[in-house]
Amino acid sequence: MDQERLLSELSDFLRIPSVSTLPAHNEDCRTAAEWVGAELRRSGCHDVQFLGSETHPVVWAKGPEVPGAPTLLIYGHYDVQPPDPLAEWTTPPFEPTRRDGRIYARGAADDKGQVFCLLKAIDAANPSVNFRFLIEGEEEYGSKVLFDLLKREPQRVGADAVLVADMSYVAPGWPAVYTTLRGLCYGEITVRTSKTDLHSGEYGGAAPNAHEELCRLLCRLKSEDGKVNIPGFYEAVKRPAKAELAAWKKLPFDEKDFLNQRVQGKGLVGLKKASVLERLWALPTFEIHGIVGGFTGEGAKTVIPAEATAKVSMRLVPNQKLATVERQLAAAVKRFAPKYVTATVRFLHGAGPAQIKVDHPAFGLLDRAFKEVTGRGTVAARAGGSIPVVPALASGGAPVILTGIGLPDDRLHAPNEKLELKQLWDGIGVFRRFYELLGAGAHDQ
Ligand code: BES
Ligand code: MN
Ligand code: MN
Repeated sequence: MDQERLLSELSDFLRIPSVSTLPAHNEDCRTAAEWVGAELRRSGCHDVQFLGSETHPVVWAKGPEVPGAPTLLIYGHYDVQPPDPLAEWTTPPFEPTRRDGRIYARGAADDKGQVFCLLKAIDAANPSVNFRFLIEGEEEYGSKVLFDLLKREPQRVGADAVLVADMSYVAPGWPAVYTTLRGLCYGEITVRTSKTDLHSGEYGGAAPNAHEELCRLLCRLKSEDGKVNIPGFYEAVKRPAKAELAAWKKLPFDEKDFLNQRVQGKGLVGLKKASVLERLWALPTFEIHGIVGGFTGEGAKTVIPAEATAKVSMRLVPNQKLATVERQLAAAVKRFAPKYVTATVRFLHGAGPAQIKVDHPAFGLLDRAFKEVTGRGTVAARAGGSIPVVPALASGGAPVILTGIGLPDDRLHAPNEKLELKQLWDGIGVFRRFYELLGAGAHDQ
């Protein structure tokens, strides 16, 4: 492998600021899609299409037809999360930089670096596999374009196996496949208390304050012990089986290291009766992402804000339904807001949770590929994050392999996101070997 050439090509991809949630970056998303399309053509795909949107198209492609060979559908995303806070990046997010055996950039691990591995592994292997690709540009904003495409054309997910590399190892040296993903329900809660902002001296003491009301409302939705108090919220939640909880104890996960090295805070929170892994993987959450409204400029202004908005989301676990949770949140907000307050919820995007059986032979091939290339096979784990279209990818009946080549400390969505170069080279090697094994299976067995 010509590592210098590969790194310079990956850097070209990482340099494109394809932030899907910010309209100012629409052109950049298109540019990233075209980068992917060109790369697919270079690796031999003859049917590259840009589908569903001008600015955030799904890139669809077919590799050369190999009669009798298995069909592998590869999923990934070329969009990234916003890079802020910019001041906290050691080097700018869209100027990929190599340091200490790593490449730093927004998207290095999530998911451009991994899409890069999946593609370069084909060049390297030339295996007997019928490749199909769905590389989307809106994963970080709910995957609407791809959802609509798959609703219109469900046959696009027809395959013998689906490979999704958008996760990480569970620990350095420990590759994994994932049996669940949490779902997501993302919305804005807005509180209005008066027609306009008011002088806090003239009105303070008697007029309601939107920020205060919003804070009280948010605190009622989730209490200090980590419990979400939305009525009905936990009804559908199932505790993992004893055997699964016991298996997690054998994983290389240490609660103290998680606090000190990953969270880098002073203490963990959440339901005390559940282990940290159970809180991260098997329980639903309620998080506040940001609060806007009132006066936040430089200096001081004495005003009672009339309106305040919180961006919030809930992670959902298997068996919870997105539509039910939406209804539950809307009802709770209505119930908890005092009569003199107008409280509304607007939902921005959402995704159901996913549950995957990992007993199909294709999982055995990936396990073998990891073992041969990295020295250790895959462990089964759950994931706290979400990939909205996974249930739709599974709807055709093919096994969906959720895996990844990043590490847990890659800082996805945060400043100084990185990918270790060792993970990158191993990743290309693992996927190359997986493709070979998959292709060989069709003829030898
Ligand atoms: N690659 C992540 C999902 C992920 C992260 C899975 C870590 C497992 C472990 C994906 O790009 C992501 O961030 N998804 C969003 C989806 C949302 C915006 C609909 C998420 O989980 O916040
Ligand atoms: Mn991702
Ligand atoms: Mn992401």
